[in-house]
Amino acid sequence: LNGAAKSGKTRDIVEKMDETGKNCVIFYGSQTGTAEDYASRLAKEGSQRFGLKAMVADIEDYDYENLDKFPEDKIAFFVLATYGEGEPTDNAVEFYQFLTGEDIAFESGATADDSPLSSLKYVAFGLGNNTYEHYNSMVRHVDAALAKLGAQRIGAAGEGDDGAGTMEEDFLAWKEPMWAALSDAMDLQEREAVYEPVFSVEEDEMTTPEDDSVYLGEPTAAHRAGQPKGPYSAHNPYIAPIGESRELFTVKDRNCLHMEIDIAGSNLSYQTGDHIAIWPTNAGAEVDRFLQVFGLEDKRNSVINVKGIDVTAKVPIPTPTTYDVAVRYYMEVCAPVSRQFVSSLAAFAPDEASKTEIVRLGNDKDYFHEKITNQCYNIAQALQSITSKPFTAVPFSLLIEGLNKLQPRYYSISSSSLVQKDKISITAVVESVRLPGASHMVKGVTTNYLLALKQKQNGDPSPDPHGLTYSITGPRNKYDGIHVPVHVRHSNFKLPSDPSKPIIMVGPGTGVAPFRGFIQERAALAAKGEKVGTTLLFFGCRKSDEDFIYQDEFKTYQEQMGDSLKIITAFSREGAQKVYVQHRLKENAPLVSELLKQKANFYVCGDAANMAREVNLVLGHIIAEQRGMPAERGEEMVKHMRSSGSYQEDVWS
Ligand code: FAD
Ligand code: 2AM
Repeated sequence: LNGAAKSGKTRDIVEKMDETGKNCVIFYGSQTGTAEDYASRLAKEGSQRFGLKAMVADIEDYDYENLDKFPEDKIAFFVLATYGEGEPTDNAVEFYQFLTGEDIAFESGATADDSPLSSLKYVAFGLGNNTYEHYNSMVRHVDAALAKLGAQRIGAAGEGDDGAGTMEEDFLAWKEPMWAALSDAMDLQEREAVYEPVFSVEEDEMTTPEDDSVYLGEPTAAHRAGQPKGPYSAHNPYIAPIGESRELFTVKDRNCLHMEIDIAGSNLSYQTGDHIAIWPTNAGAEVDRFLQVFGLEDKRNSVINVKGIDVTAKVPIPTPTTYDVAVRYYMEVCAPVSRQFVSSLAAFAPDEASKTEIVRLGNDKDYFHEKITNQCYNIAQALQSITSKPFTAVPFSLLIEGLNKLQPRYYSISSSSLVQKDKISITAVVESVRLPGASHMVKGVTTNYLLALKQKQNGDPSPDPHGLTYSITGPRNKYDGIHVPVHVRHSNFKLPSDPSKPIIMVGPGTGVAPFRGFIQERAALAAKGEKVGTTLLFFGCRKSDEDFIYQDEFKTYQEQMGDSLKIITAFSREGAQKVYVQHRLKENAPLVSELLKQKANFYVCGDAANMAREVNLVLGHIIAEQRGMPAERGEEMVKHMRSSGSYQEDVWS
């Protein structure tokens, strides 16, 4: 049972809209929160600029069998992310299956032949990544399915591209003509947008942060009451003790963490190849900056109650809480900032000059890129670059509405569940980069948090070298610096069930993470006397003595597995020319081809932007060349391997 059903709320969207006086529903299918965020932004803009009565809805909270009753004078938006290999996000799986199913039937008895959705008007926007094979396939398929069922799309279906880094601008460029088309279709009158809060934020002077009712960073009420209970999931993380953690690089200026997370007694389970999600905490220095920029420093520990002004508004953060806690644990304050959000702050600028500058930034895309995006500023840094005066007039509700919820980050589990079922390993490279043009280092939220945890746990004499000052003795001292909130996400990235089958793995950098798990598992099976097929790993890094992670461990596995384990390395910065895994793959074409003939599974993990695509191409060439086929046949064979599950990717950008 999902949330709505459990709480006895209606799952009938038509009924819900009638009850609450809405004429617009914005459904979202979201994995990491971005689609949800865009849905909220569309709802706000629709309400404020066009007088729509809009509500935002998690697509899994409603039924679909009655969409044929959706009234003609209302509008449904579908804001849908595509996840992984063209899959729907977890919350959109059922909707997608329903809509694209063979024998679709509605409650009324209508079937696909009756144009059952002829009264449904809809708007569609997809979030995807062009570095993946199935770019934006979710919105494309849903759009096609809706059209086939007779529904009428308003405006063009939009597609945002995370791979090209243009998601925000794609969204902004798509929505203006969409609003124009929607205004025509629904006879909407545009008006001067005035900020109308979706949430009320009230300070409660009678309650102190020590009061039991106040959230101090806990993810759920049960955690707050000190009685977290399973089953642990994406809505209810397990606060796991951290076991051993160590540094994997030998260089001083970059870090790669190996961390063990203890799930014993939690009832959590995982399979080799799954993902673990880490729920991070924002760096103290960034929390301080944010509170200072919005003039909230002096009342950071004031207790606040956040409520939806409208019954359909879901409050995205646990409440009551404090300003400090909201910013530290629940809001994504360090992420790149959107032009639209900066623009929405103009009305609250501390003086005319800053207001003029913000309006210019909002209107001039290139200027915004030069001054804000290229500088890699988060929201507080962006405002600091405009003026040193605090933005005290900005309502906190606007910040809650305009910024994403702080999202858990996923890591490919780097251990084998067969070998260590109660201990999940992760392998994470710490994101600390000075991007070209930026004047400061950009620090990844989660990986620097993990680094701080590791330093604290290991009693490092100089914890927090970057001055990020994490509050790792967090809420009610439950996250005492050696615990971290996690949940497990099951994946399809799996070893063949028959260990005697050969496997080929391509994993440069931290892309080796799941393959450490795969090799650990096959070494254990070999040690038990099972027949283990050829286990071929292509690993790449900069230099053999800097970032060749797990080098020593691989030697041990080699002793256990003998010739069946082969590791082929590509060190990119040791010679005059770059050597990458795909170069090694090509050099070893006969071996690769032979293993494929023996029905080897082929796995790629790591960078989605370039590496995975290049490996895919090279594999096609190898197959074509080795089997004397035309190049296109090689490509087709790889496509076929993908669809039959013998080519598997676990990639991220
Ligand atoms: P974030 O805070 O999320 O920042 C990410 C990047 O965004 C930064 O490096 C920076 O380049 C940019 N950025 C951040 N803030 C700004 C700003 N203000 N302006 C401009 N740019 C900015 N990673 C691993 O190391 N190991 C794994 O095994 C692994 N497995 C994964 C598996 C899956 C399925 C997925 C989806 C991802 C995986 N990742 C893995 C990546 C991981 O989830 C995180 O994305 C990564 O660790 C960075 O997280 P972070 O919170 O430290 O950085
Ligand atoms: P480089 O940083 O020297 O260019 C792990 O990050 C390894 O992957 C590094 O050796 C890195 O090399 C390499 N790498 C970078 N781009 C790549 C690509 N397009 N394909 C394969 N490997 C790549």
